[in-house]
Amino acid sequence: MNILVIGGGGREHALAWKLAQSPRASKVYCAPGNAGIARDVECVPTDVSNTAALAALAGELRADLTVVGPELPLALGVADEFARHGLKIVGPTKAAAEIEASKVFAKRFMERHGIPTARFTVCETPGDAYSALCSYEYPVVIKADGLAGGKGVLIGHSPDESTSILERLMEKRELGAAGARVVLEEYLEGEEVSFIVLTDGTTILPLAPSEDYKRVFDNDQGPNTGGMGAYSDENILSPQVGAQILGEVVEPTVRGLAAEGRPYKGFLYFGLILTAAGPSVLEFNARMGDPEAQPLMLRLQTDLLEVVEKLAGGQLGGVQLDWRADAAVCVVLASRGYPGEYETGQLITGLEPAEAISQVKVFCAGVQQSASGFATAGGRVLGVTARGRDLRAARERAYEAVSKIRFHGMHFRRDIGARALQRLERQRA
Ligand code: AMP
Ligand code: GLY
Repeated sequence: MNILVIGGGGREHALAWKLAQSPRASKVYCAPGNAGIARDVECVPTDVSNTAALAALAGELRADLTVVGPELPLALGVADEFARHGLKIVGPTKAAAEIEASKVFAKRFMERHGIPTARFTVCETPGDAYSALCSYEYPVVIKADGLAGGKGVLIGHSPDESTSILERLMEKRELGAAGARVVLEEYLEGEEVSFIVLTDGTTILPLAPSEDYKRVFDNDQGPNTGGMGAYSDENILSPQVGAQILGEVVEPTVRGLAAEGRPYKGFLYFGLILTAAGPSVLEFNARMGDPEAQPLMLRLQTDLLEVVEKLAGGQLGGVQLDWRADAAVCVVLASRGYPGEYETGQLITGLEPAEAISQVKVFCAGVQQSASGFATAGGRVLGVTARGRDLRAARERAYEAVSKIRFHGMHFRRDIGARALQRLERQRA
């Protein structure tokens, strides 16, 4: 089979790398991919916001199946476009992807279906928002309705700060049309977990749980980013909490979308917070997580190609996913300035010695070819990912690999998986 992966970041590298291991994959393409991904699979230039061009590309490449990484082409209807051309694709339709593309839709959907989530108010005008603030305690969470590349959620710690956030979003439109409407939301406390499933609209196949580190600095300081690292192991959730999430959150979501005429096919990501009162949904994503995909693909034993092929054919029933019993950790290496404006074009060294360490894989995100070798090309540059027999071993290996890599202005978090490890060791003591 010929497979096309759409996207060009660390998540797409991990998906393409895993799909290429299938004995049934004759050729795997990644569009547009990047210079680092091109070490593993053939990369083809494309514009991921042009759904017609993506369908034409799948036709030219004779792709038997296309897997979509990022949210933008899904929100623009790439799955609908492929369906019109009789092309097979793993990813939800535009209507189903609205669960990520509009926070207002997502919150109202959860309200209709009794899915646990923070109390909220939808604000259509700045006036609505300023007056709704009075009914919330601080900190209050302020979310832009539309897609904002991970930058649309802001926390207001005081009335002044919240008013200034609302002004920037709704009046100055700093995030463009995404901030035309906002959701105000009660702030919840708890451990966050990424619960990602594969579904064909009927059968639900949960992936192993993972945890993403969203803030830029250690100890969850600084602004939110697309994700500075992630880990996955068997201890993130107890089987009881896993079952509760499936029954109270995942099943009502998949059934609810189908009942509302938006049947969902593809990866479906539940960003959850485990509060004292139980799991609560912070966000849905209509896709695999980035960087969660990196540790998950390292731990997945099952042939991903077989699974996604069955998903596309609506035949997930009876499929099982097998996971290595160990742990995997991904540390993201970012450019100076990220998540704000960042510099690019810095030479990257040390990839080979990093990957020479056993059970280490470096997934490439913002990487370009320069005359003297690989150079940085984005905010998140590399996802240094390692497996180990447990979280401690996986962390040590990942950070050993990180120590081999250098580029000017490189920064990363030193505490990926650390809090979980401390919790685990306290429980064992
Ligand atoms: P979202 O994109 O909605 O997941 O929000 C990004 C991040 O903001 C989440 O991963 C949380 O860390 C934080 N966040 C979002 N909503 C809430 C909430 N209601 N309470 C506390 N933190 C939140
Ligand atoms: N890691 C969070 C996301 O993919 O949105």
